[in-house]
Amino acid sequence: MIQDDQRQKVTQFYDTHPINEKQIIQKLQLQGISIETLTEDILKDYDQDHYGGVEANDILAQKAGIKSTSYVLDVGSGMGGPTRYLAARYGCRVMGLDVTESRYRSALRLAKMVKLNHLVDFHLGNALDMSFADDTFDVVIGQETWAHIPEKARLIAECTRVVKIDGIIAFTDVLRQGVLGHSEMERLQHEMAIPTLETAEGYGQLLTESGCILLEQEDLSGQWAEILTQRLEMYRSLKNQTIEKFGEDHYQKWDDTYSFFVGLFAAEKLGGGRLVARRDSTGSI
Ligand SMILES: C[S@@+](CC[C@H](N)C(=O)[O-])C[C@H]1O[C@@H](n2cnc3c(N)ncnc32)[C@H](O)[C@@H]1O
Repeated sequence: MIQDDQRQKVTQFYDTHPINEKQIIQKLQLQGISIETLTEDILKDYDQDHYGGVEANDILAQKAGIKSTSYVLDVGSGMGGPTRYLAARYGCRVMGLDVTESRYRSALRLAKMVKLNHLVDFHLGNALDMSFADDTFDVVIGQETWAHIPEKARLIAECTRVVKIDGIIAFTDVLRQGVLGHSEMERLQHEMAIPTLETAEGYGQLLTESGCILLEQEDLSGQWAEILTQRLEMYRSLKNQTIEKFGEDHYQKWDDTYSFFVGLFAAEKLGGGRLVARRDSTGSI
């Protein structure tokens, strides 16, 4: 089945991703930070797997109107960086949903380490087939995840179904900006588990069609091109350590993939965007 095949590709990609729980713990220990006394205030600077760090979480939270009484769903929560951050910063309950078991297990362990289990919970599952009841959440968010999900119309319909009427869907994602060739799309799928990409307008249309009112659409392409270039430089600056730990092949494989991805941003074929929509009280899904 196409969905199972994609789930396998995503899982493989994140099981071998250079940003992972083990690497985070090693970094903390190298800096003399003990796991026993670890707090979310420290961890938050190590566990975000999207562009723009915790500032990006705050922008999304502010645009979505997240407050202590909100119940938030983070679709594609990864190791749970934004999930834990939002809970700690705003005092709200947050549910993280992710399809990769290793990410889900890391998210649970890290939440336990920083004692946030009373506010956050994680669910292992596919965003295209959520097991949550209709009208469950006040806010649905996603960051740099939805590009991995093949059927965007179904994804948006699922997000709209589980958010309450008048609730907010707010997300950032990698977007198609220019024309991508067949071989470029194949490489994105093969090396980064990105099967299809939506445009900003495409997402806007899907949100409207599923019964939402589009409130805001922001182009982040320029900012992300810079962030990605810096990330690539940072990766290269750690070349010797990476080769020592994982070998030359591993280093080269990620270097090739990152350079290709950054190149697509530089060529304005890929971009980034933030979209905010409200589920319409009169909409029908
Ligand atoms: C780049 S990470 C982002 C993690 C998190 N949003 C953050 O900002 O730290 C993307 C995550 O999306 C998850 N993912 C991809 N496809 C998914 C799907 N169909 N359903 C749920 N999660 C998915 C991956 O397993 C991965 O953990």
